[in-house]
Amino acid sequence: MKENFLPGKVGLAPMAGITDYPFRKICFEYGAPFAFTEMISAKSVLLNLEVNEQYFPRSDERERIGIQLFGYDPVELAQAAQMVQDKALWVDLNAGCPATKIVKRNAGAALLKDLKHFRLVVREMKKVTRRLSVKTRIGWDRDEFEHIYNILVEEGVDAIFVHGRTARQMYAGKASWNIYNHGDVPMYLSGDIYTREDIKRAIEVSGASGVIVARGSIGNPWIFSSLKDTGRNENVDKMERLSVVLRHLDYLEIEYGDYGAVVFRKYVAGYTKTLVGAREFRANVMNLDTIEKLKESFIEYFSKLDLERSSEYTSTGGNLE
Ligand SMILES: Cc1cc2nc3c(=O)[nH]c(=O)nc-3n(C[C@H](O)[C@H](O)[C@H](O)COP(=O)(O)O)c2cc1C
Repeated sequence: MKENFLPGKVGLAPMAGITDYPFRKICFEYGAPFAFTEMISAKSVLLNLEVNEQYFPRSDERERIGIQLFGYDPVELAQAAQMVQDKALWVDLNAGCPATKIVKRNAGAALLKDLKHFRLVVREMKKVTRRLSVKTRIGWDRDEFEHIYNILVEEGVDAIFVHGRTARQMYAGKASWNIYNHGDVPMYLSGDIYTREDIKRAIEVSGASGVIVARGSIGNPWIFSSLKDTGRNENVDKMERLSVVLRHLDYLEIEYGDYGAVVFRKYVAGYTKTLVGAREFRANVMNLDTIEKLKESFIEYFSKLDLERSSEYTSTGGNLE
């Protein structure tokens, strides 16, 4: 078994448009041991595009982050990996994204259509990359994970992240956790992990080294915290929820200014899951365009929630008397 260089069992999975620096910072604060950047095009790295600066890891996270690259050409991917590897703990190849605009370029999960080419990509990248992982699906349109796994082990990758669906499945159906870990290399499962129980079961079923959490972390950094028993935000004290929202908004403001209010729309549903009147509240805040206005609305909403809760208690108390 290759030594596991990853600093923990429950990492934050890559999500384009979601796992930016402010969101990663929140997840790290709640105990995520490692994370990925959003995916970055190998071609854009070679062109030295300035826009990439916002995607690259920041100095305070280098020891726990992987840079995820996507592309098709083995030489381009290898060169890009070599160029960026010192900015992060490791480099990851995206072989799992099924989005049309990526697959159209034969990148992401489209790499799984031709496993000979896939092998070549991994080989070229591994030649020049100190630590290389691959995030893959179980196949393009059918389960070929055994074959994919063998390629990855033979080419000497340092870790495998596997989302238990084919690319064709996109996000439909249930992700399979029945992916046996032969133990040659650290392997982490991805897919449908929302609670601490899910984490436990996924690891038990597969023998994986750990898991990475994607959708289950949106508005719910407690999934990474060992202090909460279920890892779901409905069990978290509402004031703690509010304090995370406010902190997240602060980080977004530092990163984007008031444009952070627009970015935050992606997280509103997550933070307000299962709360009374959440649907109406979401509709009301979706058009707010400054961080200050969002903060005010959240504070008002959460303080009302608390009032409702205390009036419930009062009436119950009254009945008991
Ligand atoms: C909005 C969104 C963006 C994603 N972007 C990426 C990506 O850039 N790279 C990648 O490897 N996977 C990406 N994924 C896939 C996730 O990392 C993960 O494998 C998948 O969502 C299944 O895990 P989950 O059920 O915990 O969400 C993305 C998923 C979502 C929902």
